[in-house]
Amino acid sequence: MTNDPRVMRPIPYMGVIYVVAEAMKLGFRNGHPDWCNLGQGQPEVGVIEGAPPRLMDIHLEPIDHAYGHICGTEELRQVVADHYNRLYRQGKASKYTAENVCIASGGRLMLSRIFATLGEVNLAYQTPDYTAYQDMIEYHQHRFTPVLLPATEEDGFSVSPTTLEREVVSRGIGAFVVSNPCNPTGNVIQGSDLKSYAEIARTHKMLLILDEFYSHFIYGKDGSPGSGPVSGASYVEDVNKDPLLLVDGLTKSFRYPGWRLSWAVGPAEMIDTIGRAASAIDGGASRLVQRAAMAVLEPKRADGETDALRKAFSKKRNLMVEHLKQMNIRCCPEPEGTFYCWASIKELPAPLNRGEVFFTEALKHRVMTVPGAFFDVNPGNRRHGVSPFESWVRFSFGPPLDNVAMGLERLESMLSVTV
Ligand SMILES: Cc1ncc(COP(=O)(O)O)c(C=O)c1O
Repeated sequence: MTNDPRVMRPIPYMGVIYVVAEAMKLGFRNGHPDWCNLGQGQPEVGVIEGAPPRLMDIHLEPIDHAYGHICGTEELRQVVADHYNRLYRQGKASKYTAENVCIASGGRLMLSRIFATLGEVNLAYQTPDYTAYQDMIEYHQHRFTPVLLPATEEDGFSVSPTTLEREVVSRGIGAFVVSNPCNPTGNVIQGSDLKSYAEIARTHKMLLILDEFYSHFIYGKDGSPGSGPVSGASYVEDVNKDPLLLVDGLTKSFRYPGWRLSWAVGPAEMIDTIGRAASAIDGGASRLVQRAAMAVLEPKRADGETDALRKAFSKKRNLMVEHLKQMNIRCCPEPEGTFYCWASIKELPAPLNRGEVFFTEALKHRVMTVPGAFFDVNPGNRRHGVSPFESWVRFSFGPPLDNVAMGLERLESMLSVTV
């Protein structure tokens, strides 16, 4: 061990990285055909039925050798603005332009840039939510104060608009970060609830940071493919005044996680501030990837990809929900978004009713899962004791159908022996 803890602090593996590290000790390698990664945070990246061919070439221009604008190339920023106007702002007077878009190398970097711009506010968050928020928030705790908002199982672990407004007023919330669709619960705030979120942000001048990385993974209550994506962009009145920052990219909905390409869409002044923060953090995204990204968002290709995605993933979603039910594992809620099932294992016999034990046992069957406690975002570990999500597990249907099915069968046989 060469690390002197006075010089370099110990950093534990978080969330999915821990899962992968533990599985690797038992022989897991990415793409290993005899492992089922139901812990996986990425969608399958190969060919799926009905989707346009995967992009396989990248074209360079001499200008790509130079630094680009910190917020991204003018061309890609405009393409992203057009994408939002086409999907969410038809018939609305106020439209997004290139000035409303900032580009970064991946979602986590964009979120980190945004957190770096926050002043001395009360920053609200919910649990369970995306594991990386914990570290991202902790890096800035000397400036802003994290505030946990109450979200109940009955509400699908999401914060109702009534609760949000009450908390914003009574606790002086200046910003709220939330993934929608939610990783890990698959809950989607949409329609009138999403409209209310936008109204609360507007009325109380609260910055609403909507992490919409799973915006195109939308299903009906019955599990059928949703008719289209969901974004807070539909409920913005004035694109330059409403304090909504929408964060998304190519990682999940376009199935190019390795490209590391994300964007934030919001009021031009906020976008400019994010760019200023980025100049000290990362210096801007790769011009090569930005050039390639324009082809991904070409309307016919983008719609072809995301329509096919909803069809393919709804099949896997339904398969998983059904199999888990048969195993006495209850999805709550049954996902209307993402590619995850957030499920209670309370009814399983002890000690398998604890996420950590379930995870360790499933690894022996070459199946990876993620213990629910990992999503108990807890900046500074201020809350003590056993996590309320100790008996919860996140199951991913990100891998191809056959592999998901194999993983579920293995879990069934694991439980049939131990029950
Ligand atoms: C809710 C959410 N936001 C953002 C990200 C970050 O994506 P990226 O891999 O582009 O950093 C993820 C990835 O797991 C996610 O689940």
